[in-house]
Amino acid sequence: MNAGLEGVVAAETVLSQVNGIEGRLIVRGHEIEELAGHWSFEAMAAFLWDGFAPQSMDEGQVAAALERSRNSAFGKVPDLLRATEGSTVVDGLRTGLSLLAEGPGSHIDVTAAIPVFVAALLRRDQGEPPIAPTPGLRHAADFLAMLKGEPASELLVDALETYLLTVADHGMNASTFTARVVAATRAGTVASTVAALGALSGPLHGGAPGPVLDMLDEIGDESQVDDWIARHLGDGERLMGFGHRIYRTRDPRADVLKGVVERIVNTRDRMALAEAVEKASIAALAARYPDRNLDTNVELFTAVLLEGVGLSRDLFTPVFAMGRVLGWTAHIFEQVASSRLIRPASSYVGPLPEGAPQLAVAG
Ligand code: ACO
Repeated sequence: MNAGLEGVVAAETVLSQVNGIEGRLIVRGHEIEELAGHWSFEAMAAFLWDGFAPQSMDEGQVAAALERSRNSAFGKVPDLLRATEGSTVVDGLRTGLSLLAEGPGSHIDVTAAIPVFVAALLRRDQGEPPIAPTPGLRHAADFLAMLKGEPASELLVDALETYLLTVADHGMNASTFTARVVAATRAGTVASTVAALGALSGPLHGGAPGPVLDMLDEIGDESQVDDWIARHLGDGERLMGFGHRIYRTRDPRADVLKGVVERIVNTRDRMALAEAVEKASIAALAARYPDRNLDTNVELFTAVLLEGVGLSRDLFTPVFAMGRVLGWTAHIFEQVASSRLIRPASSYVGPLPEGAPQLAVAG
């Protein structure tokens, strides 16, 4: 039995390769460094959906389709707010995606609905009315405008877009696998995406950047870094933003994000502290686990970036979904095309009636 299915290959994919030994992430033939920070969200969507979606679209066509779907998602906001009274943003988003109708354009509709619903849900928490999408804005810019009620600077839009691209696809992670399991039953894109969001919302998957900021808050300033790390590692605690199940070296997404964060002026103090924590953590982890090579993962600079863009901690997981939905929807298409129901086996270890054989593998 392999309880975590580690190393079990459950699909062939042309979408992404995570090279944990060399610290490389390749998306459809391109290193992540060539994509994030250079391509728009819309170009990435066109690229990931190309050859899978019923209709092939270029960047401009994707932008127009997403704009149309953001507008129709906004029409559903009153129903969303009625159905999600008292919910957190991420739980409300899950309910909101369930309100969407299944159809040939569902990959566009779920992608477009996420920023519309997340912005409306957050504003409701703040006692503010929802703001409609603005015609002509890029997906990331429109999200920030719907959230804040005014256009964000190009620098912040680019920073958010870079983040969305770094997380767009990442091999057979838990939420992508969930999406593929549901898609393989032919339940459709909406049901598969709702299930994937459920998997992402767990603290072991999409919830790490919030705790990174909690850690930086607790450390307070650079003079406390060495002491804090020694005390917490000594107590057997995990340092948030370091280590990874697949990467046995530095997560390549960390440096892509670090480069962007360095350009956001209001993160200067946070960044100085994060860099001091990074340096001290890598040294302390190397001393404690000399054979393991524990390094920075994607979450350390994600946390500083999202805070710098002006997003509160309860938005971190929903914004992760805003990027990862591109990977989910592409994998859903790929899984349906492969036409194989995903149905593993279990080993029954309960009581047996007399005469029933003990089987090593049972359905
Ligand atoms: N701080 C302290 N110790 C650590 C850390 C860390 N960040 N990461 C690993 N270790 C320790 C483990 O406790 C383990 O020690 P042990 O043998 O005494 O039990 C040893 O190093 C080896 O652990 P791994 O096998 O490398 O870790 P695993 O694959 O089980 O866990 C994980 C990976 C969950 C990411 C872990 O590194 C961790 O908890 N990191 C902190 C949380 C975090 O940053 N999560 C976000 C990950 S990125 C993402 O999921 C998108």
